[in-house]
Amino acid sequence: MPEHAPRLLMLCGSLRAESLNRKAVEIAARAAEAAGAVIDRTAPKDLALPLYDQDDEAASGFPDAVLKLRERMQAADGFLVACPEFNGTMTAAMKNAIDWASRPREGEAQLACFRGKTAGLVAASPGKLGGIRGLPETRRVLSGIGVHVIAGDFALGNAHEMFDDQGNCKDDGVRAGIENVGTTLAKLTAAIKNS
Ligand SMILES: Cc1cc2nc3c(=O)[nH]c(=O)nc-3n(C[C@H](O)[C@H](O)[C@H](O)COP(=O)(O)O)c2cc1C
Repeated sequence: MPEHAPRLLMLCGSLRAESLNRKAVEIAARAAEAAGAVIDRTAPKDLALPLYDQDDEAASGFPDAVLKLRERMQAADGFLVACPEFNGTMTAAMKNAIDWASRPREGEAQLACFRGKTAGLVAASPGKLGGIRGLPETRRVLSGIGVHVIAGDFALGNAHEMFDDQGNCKDDGVRAGIENVGTTLAKLTAAIKNS
C-alpha cells in the first residue's frame, strides 16, 4: 500500500502576533515536516472566532471564519496544538474554537473535525512551569471528543528567554523536547493513516 504523508494542522490558542506558543509550535512543526508530515500553518487570528452562542448558530449558522477552520480541520489527519495557560487552563480562544468545531453539521459525521485524529501538545509561558497545568485540560477535552493525544507533551518555562530574533530556540535540550512532540506526532499519524 502506498505511504501517504500525514497532514497536520497547527492550532495556536494565543491570538498574539508575537506569541511564544506560536514560536514553540513552529519548532515542533519543522520537526514534524522533517519526519515526513505536511503542515497547515494557521495565522495568529485564525482562531479569533465569534464567541459561540447557540442562538446565533440557530439564526445564522456557522460564520465564514468557522467554516474555513472546520474545512482545514477536516482535511487534517492530526493537530499540532500550542496553547498558553490562562488561569490554569486552556485559553478561551482555543476552547471556543473547539466548541464551534464540535457542533454537528448536516451531511457530516458526528465530530468529523476530531474523531480518529491525532494531536500533540505544547505549552509555553514566561513563568517557570511553562503552562503545565493547562496541558492535561487540553488533553482531556480533545480526548473526550475522540482525538488520540500522544503521550509526550512539552511545557516550556521561561519561554520569553528561549528564542532568538529568528525564532530559534537557544537551549538544545528544550528544542529537542519540543521537536520530539512534532516527530512523534508525525510518526504516529503516518502509522494510523497508512495502516
Ligand atoms: C488572562 C491571563 C491569564 C494568565 N494565566 C497564566 C497562568 O495561569 N499560568 C501561566 O504560566 N501564565 C499565565 N499567563 C501568562 C501567559 O503565559 C503569557 O502571557 C504568555 O506569553 C501567553 O502566551 P503567548 O506568548 O503565546 O501569547 C496569563 C496571561 C493572561 C493574559
